[in-house]
Amino acid sequence: MRDGGVPSRVATWRRRTMRAQLVALVARTVRGIEELVAAEVRRSGVGSVDLIGHREVHLSTPDPARAMAALACADDVLLLAGLVDGVGRTKADLQRLGRGLAGVDARRLMRLRQRLGGPAGSAGIDVSASFVGRRTYNRFDIEDTVGHQLARVLGLAYHSRRHGTRPPAGTCSWRVSLEGSRATVGLRIGDRPAHRRAYKQATVAGTLHPPLAAAMVGLAGAAPGDTVLDPCCGAGTLLVEQHHAVPGLRLLGMDCDGTSLRSATANAAGVPVRLVRADAGRLPVADRSVDRILVNPPWGRRVPARGLLAGRPERLWAEARRVLRPGGRLVALLHECEPAPIACQGFSVVTTRAVRVSGASALVVTGT
Ligand SMILES: C[S@@+](CC[C@H](N)C(=O)[O-])C[C@H]1O[C@@H](n2cnc3c(N)ncnc32)[C@H](O)[C@@H]1O
Repeated sequence: MRDGGVPSRVATWRRRTMRAQLVALVARTVRGIEELVAAEVRRSGVGSVDLIGHREVHLSTPDPARAMAALACADDVLLLAGLVDGVGRTKADLQRLGRGLAGVDARRLMRLRQRLGGPAGSAGIDVSASFVGRRTYNRFDIEDTVGHQLARVLGLAYHSRRHGTRPPAGTCSWRVSLEGSRATVGLRIGDRPAHRRAYKQATVAGTLHPPLAAAMVGLAGAAPGDTVLDPCCGAGTLLVEQHHAVPGLRLLGMDCDGTSLRSATANAAGVPVRLVRADAGRLPVADRSVDRILVNPPWGRRVPARGLLAGRPERLWAEARRVLRPGGRLVALLHECEPAPIACQGFSVVTTRAVRVSGASALVVTGT
């Protein structure tokens, strides 16, 4: 369809979802786990996947509240405000984006946001944008185009990030992503992104991004009754995410650092996990007694390997091999060039998945 001369999928999408009484959502993800988020949509039965893009999955659901709760691997779950096609790489294309937004019913989305538990009012609008590929405009140009347009429609003030000022508390947050010539516009439902977990009160250097931890938990595939070990548990993210995904497990967390263990204890309040101060190079765990190992070991960058692992990281994998039962599974987040040491310790590497997290490349490796 054409909207003010601009090809736009907004109206088509709105007709389709309204007819079926579906709500269209966009789940934002860590780069590299888009397929895992799509699998989570399908497995949980909360809706159907419409599109898998760069760091995002579009879905339609009859029950958006349930979908938001089910998608643990998503960084954020937004109301899909619209898709605008034909947004190219030059500054002139931003006008096309602005015109395409005319088809977005921003007031209806704000009402829907409130119905789904979002805040009632708004102290203004903020927009954050990202794009793939080279363009002659920057993220602030995209944000200002969208922000000014939505502010006009909603009669609210727009708070630009262009000059480094943070938007005030209580604004409604819109997100724009550009991939190829497609712009996706979404509205956050809650007052904070889904990756900011309520349980995570304490943190440590190198702590894991909870949605990525949830993705690792999904790859581990533990079943009720299993014993799951994190030998370098830090703030306990993997074990808490594991508990929320599959209750009824025997959870063991170990770390050689007392501060890390105190963080894990705080974050795991109410979670039945045994936390022990131990060196991952000599685990106080019986041979072949663990069903799943989840681990994000020290990479020697932000977090140094200490104790028996200092200068001898392979000891971790030797211990992991010793305590894992035959047929058990290891899921590890490794620095990009590191999968070989696992194979050297007798693991068969089943899958490797390249991800980008906090600006760094990493590998999620599954071994058995
Ligand atoms: C990257 S952090 C783990 C972060 C954790 N996954 C989280 O979400 O907070 C690595 C952890 O390994 C621990 N560590 C370093 N050397 C160790 C050793 N020899 N034995 C056990 N833990 C060790 C550090 O104290 C740190 O907490």
